[in-house]
Amino acid sequence: MANKILVTGGAGYIGSHTVVELYNAGYEVIIVDNFVNSNLEVINRINEITHQKPIVYPIDLLIKDDLEKVFSQHKFDGVIHFAGLKAVGESTQYPLKYYKENILSTINLCDLMNKYDVKNLVFSSSATVYSPENEMPVNEEGKLRPSNPYGRTKLFIEEILRDLYQADNDWRIVLLRYFNPVGAHESGLIGESPKGIPNNLMPFITNVATGNLKVLKVFGSDYDTVDGSGVRDYIHVTDLAKGHVKALQKNVNPGIRTYNMGTGNGYSVLEVIKAFEKATNRKISYEIVDRRPGDVAVSFADPTKAMEELHWKAEKNILEMCRDAWKWQSKNPNGYN
Ligand code: NAD
Ligand code: WQD
Repeated sequence: MANKILVTGGAGYIGSHTVVELYNAGYEVIIVDNFVNSNLEVINRINEITHQKPIVYPIDLLIKDDLEKVFSQHKFDGVIHFAGLKAVGESTQYPLKYYKENILSTINLCDLMNKYDVKNLVFSSSATVYSPENEMPVNEEGKLRPSNPYGRTKLFIEEILRDLYQADNDWRIVLLRYFNPVGAHESGLIGESPKGIPNNLMPFITNVATGNLKVLKVFGSDYDTVDGSGVRDYIHVTDLAKGHVKALQKNVNPGIRTYNMGTGNGYSVLEVIKAFEKATNRKISYEIVDRRPGDVAVSFADPTKAMEELHWKAEKNILEMCRDAWKWQSKNPNGYN
């Protein structure tokens, strides 16, 4: 019998790609998602790609009784926990909403994992937990100091999980700190479908390319970088999804382990625009504006630990990230809507 994995937030951007890779690796998948930031159509698309259909529970992790019904109906071998809110700007406006949604839902989940003896967890953390003072590339020992409430929910959850392991050494926990996930499944059937105007660079670029948006604003031209624009570690979402499968496969001994999920390469905003133009043969109109408050100049990973311990390495390059982001957006100009 295949290992059965509960994927919270499995209808979302990274979750849906991970569900595909879990099926490719032979797992059985159950999804819990309240669809605040996703669309049921993604399940048909997963089916089109994998010829498998996950059971989906459209429930909110904050409603513990509903979640308990799921645990009472299935014996899980592990949980990948993606569900949560992720908009940095919104988190500064509504911090309590973020603390409640992200932290309480994780506590509910872990309580039930304890009760039903499923002490095997992979958690979506973020590079945003690192202090901007770290030298780049940053490894897992880097100083931790997130600069917004969203990032603090991730750090606090990491700390809660560290406490949980200290209290009960039976747990197997992996914290994955993602850098900047972009791109889409190579089929163009699933991808990132932000609601409203995108905050992140790649979906903004793809929406300029379709004509949905007129012009990209490049935030800042006076950073201490190759060309003055901000530098990030973009990682293809399929590579990231495969990283989760590796993390599950290697999570056999009790412990709590942390891994950066990045390529180890930094690209500036202007370099990403050029790569997109090259990969897609489309022109992106852009204008340079002031820095965006809260942004750092440079952020990229030292992914050595994940290579050594998980035997995982991001394989797709920036051109493939752009090509697949565009394939998804051009086939689905309004995302899943
Ligand atoms: P996403 O919004 O596409 O996916 C999250 C999913 O969780 C959505 O389908 C949403 O409907 C669901 N959800 C939210 N609150 C829920 C709740 N209370 N109960 C049930 N379902 C709920 O986001 P994503 O980009 O796929 O991110 C997945 C995870 O990775 C998040 O925890 C996010 O913070 C983290 N992360 C994302 C990035 C990124 O750049 N995308 C970077 C670092 C970390
Ligand atoms: C990338 C670069 C911008 C938009 C965010 C979260 C982080 C993590 C990943 C969840 C920066 C520039 C962007 C635009 C631009 N999410 N940019 N014009 O800010 O690195 O990280 O997503 O954990 O927590 O903060 O990603 O895609 O917004 O920006 O010039 O319209 O593109 O200034 O240099 P960021 P991003």
